[in-house]
Amino acid sequence: MSAECCSNHNSDHPKPKAGAATFPMVLVMILALVSYYGCTKVDQLNGGFSAKVFGPYLGEDELMAMSPSAMDLLKEKGKSAYAKAGCVACHQANGLGSDAQNAPPLAASDWVMASESDRLIRIVLHGISGPIQVSGKEYGKGVMPPLGAVLNDEEVAAVLTYIRNEWGNAASEVKTEKAAAIRAATATRGGAPWSASELLAIPLSKPGDK
Ligand code: HEC
Repeated sequence: MSAECCSNHNSDHPKPKAGAATFPMVLVMILALVSYYGCTKVDQLNGGFSAKVFGPYLGEDELMAMSPSAMDLLKEKGKSAYAKAGCVACHQANGLGSDAQNAPPLAASDWVMASESDRLIRIVLHGISGPIQVSGKEYGKGVMPPLGAVLNDEEVAAVLTYIRNEWGNAASEVKTEKAAAIRAATATRGGAPWSASELLAIPLSKPGDK
């Protein structure tokens, strides 16, 4: 009796066999489609962020080309100082100088593009007068006023970096520390403008010197 019972029980519940269950593949496909659609949508909407920032993928080179260089920023400062100190009134926005002011050109000037700025800093701080040869041409009827009281050291360096790298000019950056050092070294000079020959007697420091 009891044996009959047990054998019946066994046949009602057969042991599960491996691999017999069927997973609903349709469900897997639907899930895959939904996630694919979702990802595409988030991508299209840039996840809610500005498309200008996250839209197009930019390479490192493209990004670097878009951001202003340290030289661009310095020149921007220098251009403001060029206006503030009134250089623009005499030497003009195009750097070609002005016959009316007897102001020689800064564009393509051998003074401006000197290897180092020892003489240039002095010209801006104290002015210059008397005969001067600029890129082989004689000038000397005008007087450039001292501008050391109008511009601080950072502005002196920036305005010189600007004129050394504008209008096709290309020369090294002028450092604020150098403007400060020359201002300190010439502090006892008073307001007297330099002469060209006096400046030419001052040796140019080697590149990299302070
Ligand atoms: C009032 C007019 C005037 C202003 C303002 C003026 N300059 Fe000059 N600058 C002159 C004149 C004039 C000379 C030539 C002086 C001489 O004949 O000895 C000169 C000479 C120079 C020279 C050397 C010669 C050359 O052409 O390369 C430089 C560099 C220069 N100036 C830069 C500047 C800068 C930078 C500023 C502003 C921070 C400035 N100047 C403001 C009139 C001016």
